[in-house]
Amino acid sequence: MPNRLSFTKLQADTITTRLGIVQERVIPSKRGSILVGTTETQKIVLKIADINNRATEEGITPSRSWGIRNEARIISKLPNHIAPKLLHHAIDPNGLIYSVISYIDPCEDRPTANINLLKDYFSRLIAAVTDMHKSGIIHGDIQPDNVIFSTSANNIAKTSLVDFEFSRPFDSVDQTYPGSYHYLSPENAARLLNEEKVVTDVRDEIFAMAATCLTILKQSIYPMDYAKNTKTREERLKQIADGVYSFDGVEKQSISFAGKLVQIMNLPDKKRPKTALALAEALSLKTDSLAP
Ligand SMILES: Nc1ncnc2c1ncn2[C@@H]1O[C@H](COP(=O)(O)OP(=O)(O)O)[C@@H](O)[C@H]1O
Ligand SMILES: [Mg+2]
Repeated sequence: MPNRLSFTKLQADTITTRLGIVQERVIPSKRGSILVGTTETQKIVLKIADINNRATEEGITPSRSWGIRNEARIISKLPNHIAPKLLHHAIDPNGLIYSVISYIDPCEDRPTANINLLKDYFSRLIAAVTDMHKSGIIHGDIQPDNVIFSTSANNIAKTSLVDFEFSRPFDSVDQTYPGSYHYLSPENAARLLNEEKVVTDVRDEIFAMAATCLTILKQSIYPMDYAKNTKTREERLKQIADGVYSFDGVEKQSISFAGKLVQIMNLPDKKRPKTALALAEALSLKTDSLAP
């Protein structure tokens, strides 16, 4: 029997050959790598997991096969200006589950030094999340990695969301896994610490959007600067629940905007803006693309 690593690689090769996908590169990820390739007509990403979670290629976590199936269900219902298109989804006879998804070409580096560009980016993120909520979907894992800034065919800047593995319809509380804990709202961080069930809601997404923007302004990977001796997940969750944010890494011209973000992030959940539109207004951002 081949070892597990080559088992998975072999299966990826079988799937891409069968579907006529030319492999280009791998995007490494903590939760299982993603393959970028091309079909005859377009650029795609391919996500694979073992339905029985047997394949333990480095980094593939047990939640992956659940996530891939969940994501396929969600993105097939979402408009294409918000999410990539699901082109193909299947379970092969060897028990591998996979999705072929349209590739979204990131057009530029994230605006960090230019506060006006950043505000524009953030308005469009809020617009995309508003449209997604209008479609009845909670994303569940909003963070910089899962937001792609791109340009459409007619050269109009747009913001797309990817990674719907933790998403859920509004009317379902069947959310088995919360997304990245670094972007959890303080109240949800406290729930996780108390081993209570965590279900991401609109108000948590409002927090995650502010945290996403703060992270980009800080030119960092997380909104929170963890204390040096803060190593374990529990210690980090406690720090998130306490919510003390620094402005380290924020350019001078963006400090006042970062201050507004932190003010909103520090509001008790009941006082936090209740909708994406209210968040845009609280940040004095353009709201022309946002319906109430
Ligand atoms: N449709 C897509 N088009 C372009 N890049 C994508 C697409 N989907 C994912 N990516 C890139 O791959 C990375 C990992 O994919 P993602 O769906 O977020 O999986 P993970 O659960 O591993 O985070 C994303 O952060 C993004 O940079
Ligand atoms: Mg992701």
